[in-house]
Amino acid sequence: MLKNSSTHYGWISIALHWLMALMIFGMFGLGLYMVELTYYDAWYKGSLELHKSLGMLLLLLWMARIIWRVINISPAELPGPRWEQLSGQVMHMALYAVMLLLMLSGYLISTADGLAITVFELLPVPALPWSIENQEDIAGEIHEILAWLLIVMAAVHALAAIKHQLINKDGGLKRMFFSQ
Ligand code: HEM
Ligand code: HEM
Repeated sequence: MLKNSSTHYGWISIALHWLMALMIFGMFGLGLYMVELTYYDAWYKGSLELHKSLGMLLLLLWMARIIWRVINISPAELPGPRWEQLSGQVMHMALYAVMLLLMLSGYLISTADGLAITVFELLPVPALPWSIENQEDIAGEIHEILAWLLIVMAAVHALAAIKHQLINKDGGLKRMFFSQ
């Protein structure tokens, strides 16, 4: 099924979850790699352009995912103590929030000079009409911290999913892989 049901995630939620997770892990590696390159490395400009373009694509996917979540039902909580269900909910909201802030901080680094980001040399995303002093450095610091935070949160989140699957045996991980 494409849509979520009261017990299962639908294929659209599943596809968005894994596409974005893969892109985020890739972006993390690419980000750490590209900041070590110097102007004389062949891939200096290309890696940054790719990071920015994929980042803007991720922002679009994030928006689509939120809209899809709002117009769709969410599967019922997995059985478990109330505190565990609540911490799961809080973690999911926090993952959405940190994803967004990470992409916005990336946008603010890239547009600090007032120039647009051109997504895949095609679509210009304009800069804001104003900027603050040292915007590139401040947004850069925030971006780096948020990137690490998101990866740590995703690791905890993945461990929780594996625990559901292996210890609680409630199909918690399986339901993010298979729809009905
Ligand atoms: C899920 C999304 C993203 C992840 C996981 C991510 C991750 C990273 C990481 C790990 C770094 C290296 C930080 C450092 O060590 O200094 C970095 C740098 C950077 N990112 Fe991202 N990023 C994301 C989205 C974006 C977006 C949307 C943009 C802009 C449109 C962007 C623009 C940049 C820029 C310009 C740098 C270089 C900063 C510098 O030179 O210090 N990123 N990113
Ligand atoms: C950057 C990586 C990841 C991000 C940002 C992320 C984010 C999220 C979010 C926001 C949800 C809530 C979906 C909803 O709206 O209901 C979710 C659900 C889920 N995620 Fe992830 N995820 C990531 C990686 C992973 C990994 C690596 C695993 C497993 C190894 C995983 C397993 C799951 C499972 C099983 C669910 C469904 C939870 C439930 O049944 O309610 N995720 N993820």
